[in-house]
Amino acid sequence: MDKNFYITTPIYYPSAKPHMGHAYSSIIADFFARFKKIDGFNVHFLTGTDEHGLKIQRAAEVKNVDTLKFCDEISETFRKLSKTLNLSNTDFIRTTEERHKKTVQYLWNILEKNDEIYLSKYSGWYSVSDEAFYNEDEIETIDGKKIAINSKSEVEWVDEESYFFRLSKWEKPLLDFYEKNPDFISPKSRKNEIISFVKSGLKDLSVSRKSFSWGIKVPNNKDHIIYVWLDALTNYISALNYPNKENDLFKTFWPASIHLIGKDILRFHAVYWPAFLLAAKIELPKKVYGHGWILSGDEKMSKSKGNILDPLEIIEQYGLDPLRYYLIKEVSFGNDGNISQDRLEDCINSDLANNFGNLCQRVTAFAMNNCQGLIPKDIDFEKEDLVILDDFKLNIENIRVKIDEQDVNYYINFIVNSLFVANKYFNDQEPWKKKDNPKRMNTIVYTTFEIIRKISFMLYPIIPDSALKALKIFEINENNINFSSIMNNNFLEQGKKFNKIGILFKKIEK
Ligand code: ME8
Ligand code: MG
Repeated sequence: MDKNFYITTPIYYPSAKPHMGHAYSSIIADFFARFKKIDGFNVHFLTGTDEHGLKIQRAAEVKNVDTLKFCDEISETFRKLSKTLNLSNTDFIRTTEERHKKTVQYLWNILEKNDEIYLSKYSGWYSVSDEAFYNEDEIETIDGKKIAINSKSEVEWVDEESYFFRLSKWEKPLLDFYEKNPDFISPKSRKNEIISFVKSGLKDLSVSRKSFSWGIKVPNNKDHIIYVWLDALTNYISALNYPNKENDLFKTFWPASIHLIGKDILRFHAVYWPAFLLAAKIELPKKVYGHGWILSGDEKMSKSKGNILDPLEIIEQYGLDPLRYYLIKEVSFGNDGNISQDRLEDCINSDLANNFGNLCQRVTAFAMNNCQGLIPKDIDFEKEDLVILDDFKLNIENIRVKIDEQDVNYYINFIVNSLFVANKYFNDQEPWKKKDNPKRMNTIVYTTFEIIRKISFMLYPIIPDSALKALKIFEINENNINFSSIMNNNFLEQGKKFNKIGILFKKIEK
């Protein structure tokens, strides 16, 4: 079995500072990366910034600063955000880096050598905001302005010499590929739109621009710069030092396990990127997952719409883990979702403070007073204990399968349900009434500790810091978290001292 796992986020445009949508993609990617890590995989997790093209050039012009300086500054805010979000990314790539430019030009040369690129002229619509070309039938006129129907961004007319990629020739191979790899485009609900786009006929794609300069030069024609999407998509292999095939990274991690992106950029990832790779005879990634949008009101939250929620402000106010938990639980993964501060507060109070935090506090307090501050020994599991403990063992394979299907909702519901069951168990078993039967009392405490341990292992990919805080009870640190061990009902060493911990989550007064 392949024990390497390579996951990527989109590389974000540093045209303005990051918002909640960017944080969302990154947090979800981190969830998968951390899960795979504790499940014994060798994980490579890439994120970064997409810095070329007219969109960025114009954003810098508006601020009247040097374009690279502009990128340096905003890219840094994305890098900082990845720290603030506690991402476990193993690399952060900027497309203005030398390592990236080299790979892009190398790829261009392969495509030219393979006769996949030719010089002609582009006349048509272009959206700078999306960095995308649109057909006439993808455009509408609103208040005298030409707008791309899907993204609602304004388009402008372009008429210039341009290199073209022979996209049309890949129509059939792409359709064959989708058929042979039914999970390549995920979730399933978005597959049809891509397939019908391809079936409706692919036109050759303009892959260079001449009328501005902010980008990577076409190797043999310095008047042209390479189309920013051909440039940007290549980040997924330039970060692995492609074409250096001797290099472990590319050998180890390509093809990517999953490109996690928003549905807004599915066409680029599910059509253009695989076509470029087919044309260059490079293996295709295993999966492209286009998640839904975080909405603000009923609209997509986006920089250009100015309706953004600042992740930093939310983190400042509530802390990081509540935000991570909330986004993973409440935005039904794959679909669009509205977020609200009110629901976030409910989540903190009910799930985190009441269900998880309170359980940890109650059991440790009880065991401190009644079990000499030790993880109980002399225990004897009964049926009602094993029913709960074994639920983890019985579901472990299932959970792995669900993770590989990106069924985040299943994973989080399993945890929420386990927390509910654990609290009910502790209440129903009433260990405080069992002081005359120490073996039974000890078993109840041990069982509850074990459940907290298992749930904390499962919570780690979602709320790493808080899970680690809870695991301090047992002196378990990051390196000892192993997903397989949720099968083990005797993981905790009997008779060992345990630690009291502080409040994990503060309740919000409403
Ligand atoms: O498209 N809800 O960069 P970008 C959920 N540079 N996710 C959202 C979101 C929202 N409201 N808004 C943004 C680009 N995102 C290109 C990508 S990849 C080779 C190049 C997330 O800054 C989501 O992942 O516009 C979306 O696909 C991405 O940010 C777009 O970020
Ligand atoms: Mg965008």
